[in-house]
Amino acid sequence: MARLTLIAAALVVAAGTATAAEAPKAPSHDWGFQGIFGSYDRAALRRGYQVYAEVCAGCHSLRLVAYRNLMEIGFTEDEVTEIASEFEVLDGPDDEGEMFTRPAKAADYFVPPFPNDNAARFANNGSLPPDLSLITKARKGGPDYLYALLTGYREEPPEGFQMMDGMVYNDYFPGHQISMPQPLFEDMVEYADGTPATVDQMSEDVTVFLAWAGSPELEARKSLGIKVLLFTIVLTAMLYALKRRIWADVH
Ligand code: HEC
Repeated sequence: MARLTLIAAALVVAAGTATAAEAPKAPSHDWGFQGIFGSYDRAALRRGYQVYAEVCAGCHSLRLVAYRNLMEIGFTEDEVTEIASEFEVLDGPDDEGEMFTRPAKAADYFVPPFPNDNAARFANNGSLPPDLSLITKARKGGPDYLYALLTGYREEPPEGFQMMDGMVYNDYFPGHQISMPQPLFEDMVEYADGTPATVDQMSEDVTVFLAWAGSPELEARKSLGIKVLLFTIVLTAMLYALKRRIWADVH
């Protein structure tokens, strides 16, 4: 009997942690890049890059994106060269076998904020800020989740909720305790196009930018899909007409 009670108690505890680990489903947001005709909003992409570069890049790498890729979203070659030149990369070995640093070039990949994971953890209270290149694909809920996470911070946890040291409360992070402090605050960036930099706006823009970083081929893929679809419709119509012609005399 004692054993049964123990098992029952263990089950209750397990069920308790399971519910604590679950987060509410992120509300669905209307993203311009979804649906079969979807494409990325160019202005949002540019603003989103700015948010990433000025805020998130302090902790998160974006290793799968190269500076030259920014030309695909409307940056000019000069702008890209200038952005890249602000970073240093390790190169070499040179003729004497020494490694050296040089300013990044358009062809280089985004330079990470920390030289390695240990340094990143050390600077972040032991937590590793994940690389954001594929983040909208890597998390359930994708862009909806990212947007909800960025806008889901609460200053105070609900009453009775036990917080661990160094953690902050987030409505949408599984388990609700996240070690990333709220990254966005009103007017944190100044948009060149004059859009007011509210937390919602910045969260939406950086989500569009990170969705692009994870699926830069989305527009090409969709436009090819539409062409294939149109081709198939026309071909079917022609074959049908042909079939009627051929069978016309038989009937
Ligand atoms: C001060 C450093 C810091 C900044 C700035 C920062 N983050 Fe984070 N971020 C972290 C850390 C640390 C974690 C790991 C959190 C954890 O696992 O508890 C994290 C985790 C995340 C995650 C993963 C959440 C999950 O489901 O696992 C996403 C997405 C994210 N950050 C997006 C962003 C975006 C977008 C920005 C810019 C608007 C940003 N972060 C700015 C430190 C930072």
